[in-house]
Amino acid sequence: MRPEERLIIVTGTNRGIGLAVGRQLAQQGYRVLLTSRDEAKGQAAAASLRHATPHVFYHPLDVTSQESIARLRDFVGREFGRADALVNNAAVCLDDGRDVLDVEMDIFRTTIETNVFGPLLLCQAFIPLMREQKYGRVVNVSSGAGQIANMVHGKPSYRMSKIALNGLTLMLAYSVRGTNVLVNAACPGWVHTDMGGPAAPRSPEQGADGIVWLATLPDGGPSGGFFRDRKPIPW
Ligand SMILES: NC(=O)c1ccc[n+]([C@@H]2O[C@H](COP(=O)([O-])OP(=O)(O)OC[C@H]3O[C@@H](n4cnc5c(N)ncnc54)[C@H](OP(=O)(O)O)[C@@H]3O)[C@@H](O)[C@H]2O)c1
Repeated sequence: MRPEERLIIVTGTNRGIGLAVGRQLAQQGYRVLLTSRDEAKGQAAAASLRHATPHVFYHPLDVTSQESIARLRDFVGREFGRADALVNNAAVCLDDGRDVLDVEMDIFRTTIETNVFGPLLLCQAFIPLMREQKYGRVVNVSSGAGQIANMVHGKPSYRMSKIALNGLTLMLAYSVRGTNVLVNAACPGWVHTDMGGPAAPRSPEQGADGIVWLATLPDGGPSGGFFRDRKPIPW
Protein backbone atom coordinates (compact mmCIF):
# COMPACT_ATOMS: atom_id res chain seq x y z
CA MET A 1 0.00 0.00 0.00
CA ARG A 2 1.31 3.46 -0.88
CA PRO A 3 1.89 6.09 1.88
CA GLU A 4 -0.97 8.29 0.60
CA GLU A 5 -3.36 5.36 1.18
CA ARG A 6 -2.31 5.01 4.81
CA LEU A 7 -3.73 7.09 7.65
CA ILE A 8 -1.54 8.03 10.61
CA ILE A 9 -3.08 9.66 13.70
CA VAL A 10 -0.85 11.82 15.90
CA THR A 11 -1.90 13.35 19.24
CA GLY A 12 -0.77 16.73 20.58
CA THR A 13 0.28 18.22 17.24
CA ASN A 14 -0.27 21.94 17.84
CA ARG A 15 3.39 22.33 18.87
CA GLY A 16 6.61 20.60 19.83
CA ILE A 17 7.55 17.06 18.87
CA GLY A 18 4.01 16.13 17.78
CA LEU A 19 4.01 18.85 15.12
CA ALA A 20 7.44 17.75 13.89
CA VAL A 21 6.22 14.13 13.66
CA GLY A 22 3.22 15.30 11.62
CA ARG A 23 5.49 17.36 9.36
CA GLN A 24 7.90 14.48 8.67
CA LEU A 25 5.11 12.00 7.97
CA ALA A 26 3.41 14.47 5.62
CA GLN A 27 6.73 15.06 3.84
CA GLN A 28 7.01 11.29 3.33
CA GLY A 29 3.59 11.38 1.63
CA TYR A 30 1.46 9.81 4.37
CA ARG A 31 -2.07 10.98 5.10
CA VAL A 32 -1.71 12.51 8.54
CA LEU A 33 -4.54 13.24 10.95
CA LEU A 34 -3.36 15.97 13.32
CA THR A 35 -5.17 16.46 16.62
CA SER A 36 -5.09 18.90 19.53
CA ARG A 37 -7.27 19.96 22.43
CA ASP A 38 -7.23 23.62 21.31
CA GLU A 39 -8.89 23.64 17.90
CA ALA A 40 -7.69 27.08 16.77
CA LYS A 41 -4.05 26.27 17.54
CA GLY A 42 -4.38 22.80 16.00
CA GLN A 43 -5.96 24.11 12.80
CA ALA A 44 -3.23 26.74 12.49
CA ALA A 45 -0.55 24.06 12.88
CA ALA A 46 -2.27 21.86 10.28
CA ALA A 47 -2.47 24.82 7.87
CA SER A 48 1.28 25.40 8.31
CA LEU A 49 1.95 21.87 6.97
CA ARG A 50 -0.51 21.92 4.08
CA HIS A 51 1.73 23.87 1.73
CA ALA A 52 4.03 20.82 1.58
CA THR A 53 1.36 18.15 1.08
CA PRO A 54 -2.39 17.99 0.50
CA HIS A 55 -2.78 14.97 2.79
CA VAL A 56 -2.98 16.82 6.12
CA PHE A 57 -6.24 16.48 8.06
CA TYR A 58 -7.33 17.78 11.44
CA HIS A 59 -9.77 16.81 14.21
CA PRO A 60 -9.99 18.09 17.82
CA LEU A 61 -8.95 15.67 20.55
CA ASP A 62 -8.59 15.93 24.31
CA VAL A 63 -6.94 12.66 25.32
CA THR A 64 -8.39 12.88 28.84
CA SER A 65 -11.97 12.75 27.48
CA GLN A 66 -13.54 9.43 26.48
CA GLU A 67 -16.23 11.35 24.57
CA SER A 68 -13.58 13.21 22.60
CA ILE A 69 -11.81 9.93 21.77
CA ALA A 70 -15.14 8.38 20.68
CA ARG A 71 -15.81 11.39 18.39
CA LEU A 72 -12.36 10.97 16.83
CA ARG A 73 -12.97 7.24 16.34
CA ASP A 74 -16.32 7.96 14.62
CA PHE A 75 -14.71 10.60 12.39
CA VAL A 76 -11.91 8.24 11.34
CA GLY A 77 -14.35 5.41 10.60
CA ARG A 78 -16.64 7.67 8.57
CA GLU A 79 -14.02 9.66 6.65
CA PHE A 80 -11.20 7.14 6.16
CA GLY A 81 -12.43 3.68 7.16
CA ARG A 82 -8.95 2.79 8.38
CA ALA A 83 -6.22 3.71 10.87
CA ASP A 84 -2.72 2.52 10.00
CA ALA A 85 -0.71 4.09 12.78
CA LEU A 86 -1.30 5.86 16.07
CA VAL A 87 1.34 8.08 17.65
CA ASN A 88 0.52 8.70 21.31
CA ASN A 89 2.55 11.89 21.69
CA ALA A 90 0.37 14.22 23.82
CA ALA A 91 1.53 14.47 27.41
CA VAL A 92 1.97 16.80 30.35
CA CYS A 93 4.82 17.28 32.79
CA LEU A 94 3.47 19.26 35.73
CA ASP A 95 5.95 18.50 38.50
CA ASP A 96 9.41 19.46 37.25
CA GLY A 97 11.67 20.19 40.24
CA ARG A 98 9.30 18.48 42.69
CA ASP A 99 10.00 15.55 45.01
CA VAL A 100 7.83 12.45 45.22
CA LEU A 101 7.06 13.17 48.88
CA ASP A 102 5.65 16.62 48.11
CA VAL A 103 3.53 16.30 44.98
CA GLU A 104 -0.24 16.77 45.32
CA MET A 105 -2.55 13.97 44.23
CA ASP A 106 -4.35 16.14 41.68
CA ILE A 107 -1.05 16.52 39.79
CA PHE A 108 -0.56 12.75 39.86
CA ARG A 109 -4.15 12.22 38.68
CA THR A 110 -3.97 14.71 35.80
CA THR A 111 -0.60 13.33 34.70
CA ILE A 112 -1.72 9.69 34.74
CA GLU A 113 -5.05 10.60 33.05
CA THR A 114 -3.21 12.36 30.22
CA ASN A 115 -0.03 10.31 29.78
CA VAL A 116 -1.38 6.80 30.48
CA PHE A 117 -5.17 6.56 30.31
CA GLY A 118 -5.22 8.72 27.16
CA PRO A 119 -2.91 6.39 25.19
CA LEU A 120 -4.71 3.33 26.62
CA LEU A 121 -8.15 4.59 25.52
CA LEU A 122 -6.83 5.54 22.08
CA CYS A 123 -5.36 2.05 21.69
CA GLN A 124 -8.69 0.53 22.72
CA ALA A 125 -10.36 2.72 20.09
CA PHE A 126 -8.02 2.07 17.16
CA ILE A 127 -6.21 -1.25 17.60
CA PRO A 128 -9.36 -3.28 16.79
CA LEU A 129 -9.42 -1.53 13.38
CA MET A 130 -5.72 -2.28 12.90
CA ARG A 131 -6.27 -5.94 13.71
CA GLU A 132 -9.07 -6.14 11.14
CA GLN A 133 -6.78 -4.57 8.54
CA LYS A 134 -3.93 -6.91 9.54
CA TYR A 135 -1.71 -3.82 9.67
CA GLY A 136 -1.02 -1.32 12.41
CA ARG A 137 1.77 0.62 14.10
CA VAL A 138 1.47 2.16 17.56
CA VAL A 139 4.14 4.44 18.97
CA ASN A 140 3.90 5.44 22.61
CA VAL A 141 6.08 8.49 23.08
CA SER A 142 7.81 7.76 26.36
CA SER A 143 10.90 9.17 28.01
CA GLY A 144 14.22 8.22 29.54
CA ALA A 145 12.60 9.62 32.70
CA GLY A 146 10.56 6.40 32.76
CA GLN A 147 13.54 4.04 32.55
CA ILE A 148 13.60 1.85 35.66
CA ALA A 149 17.23 1.13 34.78
CA ASN A 150 18.15 4.80 35.42
CA MET A 151 15.54 5.78 38.01
CA VAL A 152 16.37 8.88 40.02
CA HIS A 153 14.14 11.48 41.65
CA GLY A 154 12.37 14.58 40.33
CA LYS A 155 9.24 14.84 38.13
CA PRO A 156 7.68 11.98 40.14
CA SER A 157 4.24 11.91 38.51
CA TYR A 158 5.76 12.31 35.03
CA ARG A 159 8.24 9.48 35.71
CA MET A 160 5.50 7.22 37.05
CA SER A 161 3.35 7.95 34.00
CA LYS A 162 6.13 6.97 31.60
CA ILE A 163 6.92 3.79 33.61
CA ALA A 164 3.22 2.90 33.26
CA LEU A 165 3.23 3.78 29.55
CA ASN A 166 6.22 1.48 29.02
CA GLY A 167 4.37 -1.33 30.82
CA LEU A 168 1.30 -0.65 28.70
CA THR A 169 3.48 -0.88 25.57
CA LEU A 170 4.64 -4.37 26.55
CA MET A 171 1.11 -5.53 27.39
CA LEU A 172 -0.29 -4.23 24.11
CA ALA A 173 2.53 -5.79 22.09
CA TYR A 174 1.78 -9.14 23.73
CA SER A 175 -1.96 -8.73 23.17
CA VAL A 176 -1.55 -8.17 19.41
CA ARG A 177 1.34 -10.56 18.72
CA GLY A 178 1.07 -12.30 15.35
CA THR A 179 -1.39 -9.75 13.90
CA ASN A 180 1.04 -7.40 12.06
CA VAL A 181 0.20 -4.70 14.60
CA LEU A 182 3.53 -3.50 16.01
CA VAL A 183 3.57 -1.59 19.30
CA ASN A 184 6.68 0.19 20.57
CA ALA A 185 7.78 2.95 22.93
CA ALA A 186 10.10 5.77 21.85
CA CYS A 187 12.23 8.26 23.75
CA PRO A 188 12.88 11.37 21.63
CA GLY A 189 15.88 12.45 23.74
CA TRP A 190 16.07 15.85 25.42
CA VAL A 191 14.30 18.15 22.99
CA HIS A 192 13.97 21.94 22.84
CA THR A 193 10.17 22.38 23.28
CA ASP A 194 7.90 23.97 25.87
CA MET A 195 8.30 20.77 27.90
CA GLY A 196 12.02 20.21 27.29
CA GLY A 197 12.97 23.87 27.83
CA PRO A 198 15.45 26.11 26.02
CA ALA A 199 18.62 24.34 27.25
CA ALA A 200 17.71 21.08 25.49
CA PRO A 201 20.24 20.17 22.78
CA ARG A 202 17.88 18.51 20.28
CA SER A 203 15.46 20.07 17.82
CA PRO A 204 11.89 18.78 17.56
CA GLU A 205 12.82 17.42 14.11
CA GLN A 206 15.66 15.34 15.63
CA GLY A 207 13.35 14.11 18.39
CA ALA A 208 10.68 13.17 15.86
CA ASP A 209 12.93 11.01 13.67
CA GLY A 210 12.84 7.81 15.76
CA ILE A 211 9.10 8.18 16.33
CA VAL A 212 8.41 8.47 12.59
CA TRP A 213 10.62 5.44 11.98
CA LEU A 214 8.55 3.34 14.43
CA ALA A 215 5.25 4.65 12.97
CA THR A 216 6.26 3.43 9.51
CA LEU A 217 8.06 0.16 10.32
CA PRO A 218 7.98 -2.49 7.59
CA ASP A 219 6.14 -5.77 8.20
CA GLY A 220 8.22 -8.01 10.44
CA GLY A 221 9.67 -5.02 12.31
CA PRO A 222 10.19 -4.99 16.07
CA SER A 223 7.32 -4.93 18.55
CA GLY A 224 7.37 -4.57 22.34
CA GLY A 225 10.59 -2.52 22.33
CA PHE A 226 11.82 0.79 23.73
CA PHE A 227 13.90 2.86 21.30
CA ARG A 228 15.88 6.08 21.09
CA ASP A 229 17.51 7.16 17.82
CA ARG A 230 16.21 3.96 16.18
CA LYS A 231 18.20 1.80 18.65
CA PRO A 232 16.86 -0.32 21.56
CA ILE A 233 17.37 1.07 25.07
CA PRO A 234 16.77 -0.60 28.44
CA TRP A 235 13.35 -0.29 30.11
N1 LIG B 1 10.84 17.59 25.19
C1 LIG B 1 11.58 16.62 25.73
O1 LIG B 1 12.76 16.81 26.07
C2 LIG B 1 10.99 15.24 25.89
C3 LIG B 1 11.83 14.24 26.39
C4 LIG B 1 11.32 12.95 26.53
C5 LIG B 1 10.02 12.68 26.16
N2 LIG B 1 9.22 13.67 25.68
C6 LIG B 1 7.85 13.33 25.30
O2 LIG B 1 7.60 13.78 23.99
C7 LIG B 1 6.19 14.07 23.85
C8 LIG B 1 6.00 15.46 23.30
O3 LIG B 1 6.63 16.37 24.18
P1 LIG B 1 6.95 17.89 23.81
O4 LIG B 1 8.31 18.16 24.33
O5 LIG B 1 6.64 18.16 22.38
O6 LIG B 1 5.92 18.63 24.78
P2 LIG B 1 5.07 19.97 24.62
O7 LIG B 1 5.78 20.93 23.75
O8 LIG B 1 4.72 20.36 26.01
O9 LIG B 1 3.76 19.46 23.84
C9 LIG B 1 2.87 18.60 24.48
C10 LIG B 1 1.66 18.43 23.59
O10 LIG B 1 0.72 17.59 24.28
C11 LIG B 1 -0.54 18.26 24.22
N3 LIG B 1 -1.45 17.85 25.28
C12 LIG B 1 -1.30 17.96 26.61
N4 LIG B 1 -2.40 17.53 27.25
C13 LIG B 1 -3.29 17.16 26.28
C14 LIG B 1 -4.60 16.64 26.31
N5 LIG B 1 -5.27 16.42 27.44
N6 LIG B 1 -5.20 16.34 25.11
C15 LIG B 1 -4.56 16.55 23.95
N7 LIG B 1 -3.32 17.07 23.87
C16 LIG B 1 -2.70 17.37 25.03
C17 LIG B 1 -0.19 19.73 24.28
O11 LIG B 1 -1.31 20.52 23.90
P3 LIG B 1 -1.63 21.96 24.59
O12 LIG B 1 -0.85 22.97 23.77
O13 LIG B 1 -3.11 22.07 24.47
O14 LIG B 1 -1.13 21.89 26.00
C18 LIG B 1 0.95 19.76 23.29
O15 LIG B 1 0.48 19.75 21.97
C19 LIG B 1 5.58 13.86 25.23
O16 LIG B 1 5.02 12.57 25.31
C20 LIG B 1 6.78 13.96 26.16
O17 LIG B 1 6.58 13.28 27.37
C21 LIG B 1 9.68 14.95 25.54
